[in-house]
Amino acid sequence: MEPFDFHSRTRLIFGEGSLDRLGALASELGFKRTLLVADKGILACGYVERATNLLTEGGVAVFTFHEFDSNPTTTMIEAGRKLAESFSIDSLIGLGGGSSMDTAKAINFVLTGGGSIQEYQGYGKARAPMLPMIGVPTTAGTGSEAQSHTLISDAETHVKMACGDPGAAFKIALLDPQLTISQPAAVAATAGFDAISHAVETYATTRRNALSEVFSLEAWRLLESHYDRVVRGPEDIGARGAMQLGAYWAGLAIENSMLGATHACANPLTANYDIEHGVAIGLMLPHVIRWNGAVAGERYRRLLEQGAAPPGAGDPTEALARRLEELRALGGLPRGLRSVGVPEADLERLAGEASEQWTGQFNPRPFGASAALTLYRRAYEM
Ligand SMILES: [Fe+2]
Repeated sequence: MEPFDFHSRTRLIFGEGSLDRLGALASELGFKRTLLVADKGILACGYVERATNLLTEGGVAVFTFHEFDSNPTTTMIEAGRKLAESFSIDSLIGLGGGSSMDTAKAINFVLTGGGSIQEYQGYGKARAPMLPMIGVPTTAGTGSEAQSHTLISDAETHVKMACGDPGAAFKIALLDPQLTISQPAAVAATAGFDAISHAVETYATTRRNALSEVFSLEAWRLLESHYDRVVRGPEDIGARGAMQLGAYWAGLAIENSMLGATHACANPLTANYDIEHGVAIGLMLPHVIRWNGAVAGERYRRLLEQGAAPPGAGDPTEALARRLEELRALGGLPRGLRSVGVPEADLERLAGEASEQWTGQFNPRPFGASAALTLYRRAYEM
């Protein structure tokens, strides 16, 4: 068995209406002046106002930052840092989807340690103790609330950089399923499919271990069997809670076993054409599963056995790929690179970029530029 070293740095609170505890929890952690980092969609939902009221009642002064989008860049982080510095904050709260939480973490790195976020690529590069943070996800997707990594795009090159440190883990992750009801249907579908891909990829990486397997399997069980319910019935609070927890367990699985070739192939699609992460994942995942089948088929069988669509007697790899295609169709996600406007002439260059993605090295089948080109060609022809 592979060794592991697991220390849960994040207190996990789950339950309908748990947002009401935000002020008391912040106060318990000693927050006095906090930066509430929330994307603009969250502002429109009224959650920023609600969170601000709760925090103010808890005796916490609140400053807000909204100047970023679904793909936070180095420039946006610098703007956040300047604002945070001018308010002399002592803490941060990420409220929203993965981008809000990743932005809060990235501002924390540069505010406490100086320099630019590029200097924190890799793991354990924090130069000073980081400020305490609370993560409040409003989507069920990235699992950033469970992780000590942030993903930020270089504003010039568009390359995604992963910066991690134990200090970048949230002190508290507050999971209130009611907050995920406001997700637009398209966001629930793309974010949910991303979470599904996390369960699948983490279960087969070369870095997997006895602990990450527990998280991956439970994530798959919850996500695979509730995805269609949140897509068809947005008000289904039971399904929302299951997806939110599933995304959290999948995020913890990433923290302990990394990801694979699907994420390596998806990242250049986002960097070059602004294709949303979950959409890019949807385009690539079934192809990566089929390509990995020769080495990961038995693992895929075990994964399927946990879910709502057991593999039967046939080839588990094909069964998993088909199940994923079925879920992708339920979510209304596109199925081919051609259909989203990726030029065929770019595939070779994209394959080179995919081979440089850090996460590709943990794929169960050795992955490089020629493998990426094969996968892109298959995805193109769909
Ligand atoms: Fe992802």
